[in-house]
Amino acid sequence: MISYLEPLHRFIVKVGEVLSLHTLREVITYPSFGDRITDYLNLQNLMDSLQSYWSQRYNEGRTGWDLGEPSRPLQNYIDQLEDSQLKILIPAAGNAYEAEYLFSQGYTQVYVIDIAPEPLADFRNRNPDFPSDQLLEEDFFMHQGQYDLIIEQTFFCSFPPEKATRQLYAKKMHELLAPKGKLVGLWFVIPLTGDMEKRPFGGTKEEYLSYFSPLFCIKTLERCYNSVESRAEQELFGIFERK
Ligand SMILES: C[S@@+](CC[C@H](N)C(=O)[O-])C[C@H]1O[C@@H](n2cnc3c(N)ncnc32)[C@H](O)[C@@H]1O
Repeated sequence: MISYLEPLHRFIVKVGEVLSLHTLREVITYPSFGDRITDYLNLQNLMDSLQSYWSQRYNEGRTGWDLGEPSRPLQNYIDQLEDSQLKILIPAAGNAYEAEYLFSQGYTQVYVIDIAPEPLADFRNRNPDFPSDQLLEEDFFMHQGQYDLIIEQTFFCSFPPEKATRQLYAKKMHELLAPKGKLVGLWFVIPLTGDMEKRPFGGTKEEYLSYFSPLFCIKTLERCYNSVESRAEQELFGIFERK
């Protein structure tokens, strides 16, 4: 492949996989540059749609996932950390109450990503001292960086529950972690219904292990004992260390 096309090629592959649009994966085999550009533009439109979808939910207040405070299991985990120099990523963080909590506890290397600008703006208003260059309006799957700790909450369950996308998530988490870095978070252990409109999308412990155990040492993945009431018995707490 001609070198100047490679970034475009990578972009198309990644976005195609993220959005789980199987047909779009085929664009990488298109022979002509013109077709590639057309698909690139189509994919940009799809990216815009993804952002619009989430923005609209924030603008309409359809944010049932938003706890309004740090999630209890994650706050408990944070309280056990000892090194305030850890470089921490919270992807698809929404209102990012955990980032706010970390920052209030002296963690300065906290990075927040969300594809929608609305929760980031709210976060900025609530936390004017939080470094603005650590608030990233970006697609997680396109993000580059290296972290000691990544915190997951209600991101995994928010995108269409296809095997390829879930595998890509695990791979991307692995790529973003430093050696021995940890992915820590909560994963819903509720049945998949087949309804592709109804979030959160769940899964089973066995399914989750199939994505993470090839890439991570599973320190724990157990039913959470201290979930907020609305999620009691519905989530697994996991600590995965990068292999
Ligand atoms: C269900 S909400 C969860 C928000 C937050 N984790 C929480 O627990 O409050 C899903 C979030 O993921 C964001 N999002 C979805 N796809 C994303 C992507 N590819 N990259 C970055 N953020 C994304 C949405 O904008 C939304 O804020």
